[in-house]
Amino acid sequence: MSKHQDRVVLAYSGGLDTSVAIGWIGEQTGREVVTVAVDVGQGGEDLEVIRQRALDCGAVEAYVADARDEFAEEYCMPALKANALYEGKYPLVSALSRPVIAKHLVRAAREFGASTVAHGCTGKGNDQVRFEVAITSMAPDMNCISPVRDLALTRDVAIEYAEKHDLPIETTKHNPFSIDQNVWGRAIETGFLEDLWNAPTKDVYVYTDDPTYPPLPDEVVIHFEQGVPTAIDGKAVTPLEAIQELNRRAGAQGVGRIDMVEDRLVGIKSREIYEAPGAVALIEAHQALESVTLERLQRRYKRQLEQTWSDLVYEAQWYSPLKRSLDAFIEDTQYYVTGDIRMVLHGGRATVNGRRTDTGLYDFNLATYETGDTFDQSSSRGFIEIYGMQSKLAAARDVRLGRGVAF
Ligand code: ARG
Repeated sequence: MSKHQDRVVLAYSGGLDTSVAIGWIGEQTGREVVTVAVDVGQGGEDLEVIRQRALDCGAVEAYVADARDEFAEEYCMPALKANALYEGKYPLVSALSRPVIAKHLVRAAREFGASTVAHGCTGKGNDQVRFEVAITSMAPDMNCISPVRDLALTRDVAIEYAEKHDLPIETTKHNPFSIDQNVWGRAIETGFLEDLWNAPTKDVYVYTDDPTYPPLPDEVVIHFEQGVPTAIDGKAVTPLEAIQELNRRAGAQGVGRIDMVEDRLVGIKSREIYEAPGAVALIEAHQALESVTLERLQRRYKRQLEQTWSDLVYEAQWYSPLKRSLDAFIEDTQYYVTGDIRMVLHGGRATVNGRRTDTGLYDFNLATYETGDTFDQSSSRGFIEIYGMQSKLAAARDVRLGRGVAF
């Protein structure tokens, strides 16, 4: 097999580690490297600048993809429909982006003739698992390597290598945190945050302003069609635009700051700071619309599945059969999740204060205590009689055998 036919595709961020990895992988494996940079709304440098840097650092091909709409529509929207919050808090920011990046890695591997995919993750986190499981779940024939984990590419080595080879990349700027960000949110870890008692400082946050001194309250009306936001304050938006607009408006109010210790898949507990203003506001609004439109038992069951869904996605199972089956269930529940939610963004909170839908199950005439009540209260007597029968029988037995509730 010629060298050309057995390339390595590298997930490329444009930063120091992955820039050095291009030459490093080449030296260590004897193969040509094709870089892949995917825009999932992380902001920062232009894709074209990143592409050129990859080539300047020795890549034989540099693949770039603007996947922002794809990410918003096919990854963030399913997470919204699932109200996905890992351990009840974390909106799965990084966990959602890995599967879409992996898809582009596989596509590039096929296009440019690579049998190996490389990524810049360490051996301690979830992301290595997510990349590799996603890749082999789509392309079971693919090999995966991590230069940091498998080819001894430490930070010191990277700096020395970049200077020695005169790579066009900054080596002096050292961010005190490890950061991953995309349009769904931002994850910040390491540095002084590793001491659980240390409160995050102001410089940790970028997507959100300090909620202590917020601007005036901001009222927003979000229209959903079958679980997906399609208009904000009457203006039509794509899923990407909806997230961006709420990142801006909820971010200005300090909504969506999260400080937590989470359980990683690899068994480590880690301190994480997140900021996800758009995601948190959208999930709050979506849950409120579901509270009006989903039938009671369906909603209760869905809540359990939401947890399973979030665990699966966190744990690298995006392309798994169970996740796919859960998606089918969740999609079915969204049929009537159409209507308007009004919420107030203020002082770090997104508070729903209005709901309006033509497909809801809320019946004013059943709920009202005013005139117009159509609920026949007399039938509740018989309902309670039968509903409480089993407990009543069990209580009678307890009383008879001396195990009744003590007063
Ligand atoms: N702990 C989070 C997760 O596993 C975020 C990881 C983000 N990566 C980073 N380099 N900060 O989803």
